[in-house]
Amino acid sequence: MYNKIDSEILGKLADIVGKEFVFTDSESLEKYSKDETEDFVFPPEAVVKPDSAEQISRIVKLANEKLIPVIPRGGGTGLSGGALHVEGGICLSMERFNRIIEIDENNFQAVVEPGVITQIFQETLESKGLFYPVDPASRGSCFLGGNIAECSGGPRAAKYGTTKDYVLGLEFITPTGEIINAGARTIKNVTGYNLSQLIVGSEGTLGIVTKIIFKILSLPKFKKVLLTAFGSVESCISSVAEFYKAGLVPSALEFLTKDAVKAAENHLGKPFPNSDADAMLLIELDGNNENVLNEEVEKIASVAEKFGVTDIILAEDRQKMEDLWALRRSVGEAVKAISTYKEEDTVVPRYSLPALADGIKKISEKYNITIIFYGHAGDGNLHVNILKKDLSDEEWNNKVEKAVEEIFRLTVSLGGMISGEHGIGYSQKKYLPIALSAEQIELMKKIKKTFDPNNILNPGKIFP
Ligand code: LAC
Ligand code: ZN
Repeated sequence: MYNKIDSEILGKLADIVGKEFVFTDSESLEKYSKDETEDFVFPPEAVVKPDSAEQISRIVKLANEKLIPVIPRGGGTGLSGGALHVEGGICLSMERFNRIIEIDENNFQAVVEPGVITQIFQETLESKGLFYPVDPASRGSCFLGGNIAECSGGPRAAKYGTTKDYVLGLEFITPTGEIINAGARTIKNVTGYNLSQLIVGSEGTLGIVTKIIFKILSLPKFKKVLLTAFGSVESCISSVAEFYKAGLVPSALEFLTKDAVKAAENHLGKPFPNSDADAMLLIELDGNNENVLNEEVEKIASVAEKFGVTDIILAEDRQKMEDLWALRRSVGEAVKAISTYKEEDTVVPRYSLPALADGIKKISEKYNITIIFYGHAGDGNLHVNILKKDLSDEEWNNKVEKAVEEIFRLTVSLGGMISGEHGIGYSQKKYLPIALSAEQIELMKKIKKTFDPNNILNPGKIFP
């Protein structure tokens, strides 16, 4: 259905971006053939590195004329295969779009290009007393454009929201090559459909973002980080909603099982406090009044005590706080390093977390499989990893799909969704009908068709 890239097309691409920015050598094709999703490998036919919206517009128009898939690519840290070239085509790497164009301290806004690494954006703002709270575990290498595509969340979502809550406007290229400036540099805006928010979370299927207008905040002056250890997964996860019901709004509340902590210990080669506890919460508080934060620490302790907390460690300085966060951030990679795995990015209303955890345990017993789960308990988002370990390929194939389906059905029955922040992409698309009605999927497909009549932009994603 698509055409292959031939020398004529390569020549045209070189005319658009310059031949030093078109790559077809095997090293480049291999480098861009994967993201961080399982062990999937789908190489592009060519890698192109444009540096302007006009160039992208021309590339996309060429791709429509020649029927060639175009797959936009950020930092390659995605966890649902959104950047994989499942139909071949052009890898459109956004790495040269790496400028922070403007930090508007008068209006608390920033204008950036999508190839800026999230951590660089965060740290640039912090040096000016400003704050961008979205904090994906991959912040050291993911791109802001990828965060837009997947609507990245991370640990601070319960207090601060996700990527969508910071996007005021976007410049993007439609799949037919038009340059659109959606949204505005205003907090309020009801001027036609909210196209910038439609692009957020559309997983690179509706447009290629070339500029972002972010809302930013001022940096809270104080922070407290606590590690609370519990004697059981049940008591730990049951405590989560109670912190909020007690009036606390932590800037992060992360759940870790013993298996997750042990994996991270092994991976980082460092011992961690209370790593023999069955489960832990990593809790962060932030604010501008230290006395209030100290009172909140006391309140956390008193709620945790009701759930049989066995130990509470308060990080005494920035370094200790960073060490605990480094432990937490490494869990994803650490769990993946154990064996072949399949991840589900479940999200439920917070008060349903104990039911989700209990159901996951029952599913792991029913299929006799290892499941390690952890994640952003504060906003109900648990990453559930099924590990192959020493199962035969046949057993793995027999069990994994059924187990995933049961986990997702459970999630939806609890009022949840099958992805909170990693997206549907390639790896979860067959499960979409568990979460969305046929009518809703049809409506989404019509939107896709309106934007992309030739289905050239990131094909083979989201829809089963
Ligand atoms: C995390 C990634 C996997 O929370 O989303 O660590
Ligand atoms: Zn996460």
